[in-house]
Amino acid sequence: MRVAVIGAGYVGLTTAACFAHLGHDVVCADIDAERVARLKKGEVPILELGLAGLIKEGLAARRLEFVVGAATAAQRAEIVFLCVQTPQGSDGSADLSFVETVAQEIAPVLAPNTVVVNKSTVPVGATRFVQRVLSEAGAGAEGVTVASNPEFLREGQAVRDFLNPDRIVIGCEDHESAVRVSELYKRVDAPVLVTDPASAEMIKYASNAFLATKVSFINAIANLCEAVDADAREVAIGMGYDTRIGFQFLHPGPGYGGSCFPKDVAALLHMSTAAGYDFELLAGVVDVNAAQHERMIDKVRAAVGGSVSEVTVGLWGLTFKADTDDLRDSPAIYIARRLLEEGAIVRAYDRGAGDRPRQLAPGIELCGDAYDAAASADVVALLTEWDEFRWLDFDRVRDTMRGRAIVDARNLLDPAAMRRRGFAYQGVGRR
Ligand SMILES: NC(=O)c1ccc[n+]([C@@H]2O[C@H](COP(=O)([O-])OP(=O)(O)OC[C@H]3O[C@@H](n4cnc5c(N)ncnc54)[C@H](O)[C@@H]3O)[C@@H](O)[C@H]2O)c1
Repeated sequence: MRVAVIGAGYVGLTTAACFAHLGHDVVCADIDAERVARLKKGEVPILELGLAGLIKEGLAARRLEFVVGAATAAQRAEIVFLCVQTPQGSDGSADLSFVETVAQEIAPVLAPNTVVVNKSTVPVGATRFVQRVLSEAGAGAEGVTVASNPEFLREGQAVRDFLNPDRIVIGCEDHESAVRVSELYKRVDAPVLVTDPASAEMIKYASNAFLATKVSFINAIANLCEAVDADAREVAIGMGYDTRIGFQFLHPGPGYGGSCFPKDVAALLHMSTAAGYDFELLAGVVDVNAAQHERMIDKVRAAVGGSVSEVTVGLWGLTFKADTDDLRDSPAIYIARRLLEEGAIVRAYDRGAGDRPRQLAPGIELCGDAYDAAASADVVALLTEWDEFRWLDFDRVRDTMRGRAIVDARNLLDPAAMRRRGFAYQGVGRR
């Protein structure tokens, strides 16, 4: 099928490359001309395992093309995927202005019977909203339909998740259009759930809110473990063996972050309030999460006697999680900023972050490796679970640090082994 993908970000690029891999003819558009120029040459602007290979494969087979501008991509397409950003608005709601702009741009060029698909995370009612914008901007007379096909990929494993999803959700009032969208995934082995658009939109928010709830729940348990001298890691393992609970998202840490959970939880809360439902449980999830970021800063302060003023803090990891270059709403960036505000000298290393932390946390010093970040530090805080931090030469780390304190906000390291090496180790909910 001829597919257009609008937006060449994390979701758009993955969608475009994977659909090309599945045998479709894909045109992927962005407004960022420099990004498109790089993509045409096979240079991938984001860190995502396996993505560069698929993009090269698609370009070589001429099944994948990159263009500037949504209308150029949409004009020959049978199905158009909207994969643009839906950031958090000032009132917590999802900002649909990027989606609206794309709908206005593509409306005049859509061929009859095109299906426009919201893959961006959009609130309940957005399918109807896009349908209205399209018809007001000149489409629709020849039966252009709009569907919702939320994306559940995890950054860092986006390609694998796209090609091996747990489920494919398609929300559409028109059965024939839903079938056409499902045919795109013919070679993907996953259950396909066809629903009304509102339910499909809600499935995405409910899923992310549930995962965020799991994170806040295990963080609250970890905090309680610290108070009663239990070990949260053992507790999480003991819980996870229960198949009704499962192991995933039961890792105590600095609180959730990233480009999805915080904004999607805020949008669901906004939706609830607007619908007259007081979603107290979810408000609690947000509060626990914010307090968890603070708790990590408390641990750093406590490790150096109460104040970080003029203290050198080495940070390991800045991205919101490992195996991505994404710094959006990263707890590590929040923590770095707060430490800098309190007068700390912050020396950080992250293999995926590049130079961007300099803008996000002005004053931060970026280091070439984990050893450099730890050198002369009074305390090191491990904030992102990059695997390389497990395998460091910790004797070397200890000998070059000024202090001995390690705050392991990801519970990545073995407390007993670290203490044996002479570190004052603190994890999250760990004995
Ligand atoms: N990142 C994730 O892990 C993830 C997972 C599931 C769902 N989502 C959702 O998918 C959507 C996209 O997320 P993302 O992380 O890929 O965002 P992103 O910011 O990485 O990418 C969006 C891209 O759209 C482009 N764009 C904006 N307006 C455009 C226009 N008019 N024409 C062409 N291109 C335009 C931007 O330049 C950008 O490159 C969001 O709604 C997000 O919530 C994200």
